[in-house]
Amino acid sequence: MSKQIDVNDLNIFYGNFHAVQDVSMTIEARSVTAFIGPSGCGKSTFCAR
Ligand SMILES: Nc1ncnc2c1ncn2[C@@H]1O[C@H](COP(=O)(O)OP(=O)(O)OP(=O)(O)O)[C@@H](O)[C@H]1O
Ligand SMILES: [Mg+2]
Repeated sequence: MSKQIDVNDLNIFYGNFHAVQDVSMTIEARSVTAFIGPSGCGKSTFCAR
């Protein structure tokens, strides 16, 4: 059974560098979800979690 993914106040650091800051979102089950934003905004860092 598919489940949604809930993200609550996610923060990711590379050493002292704050790459992802206070991100909260819900990814709905069985829905196509895209991350759109400028290079370096943290899309890949977020998705690797
Ligand atoms: N291994 C790492 N060590 C240190 N800083 C990193 C590392 N990986 C990414 N960063 C930095 O974290 C920030 C987010 O990078 P990320 O690769 O998640 O961005 P992105 O949105 O996927 O960019 P792009 O559209 O170019 O793929 C950038 O400022 C990047 O320089
Ligand atoms: Mg990327």
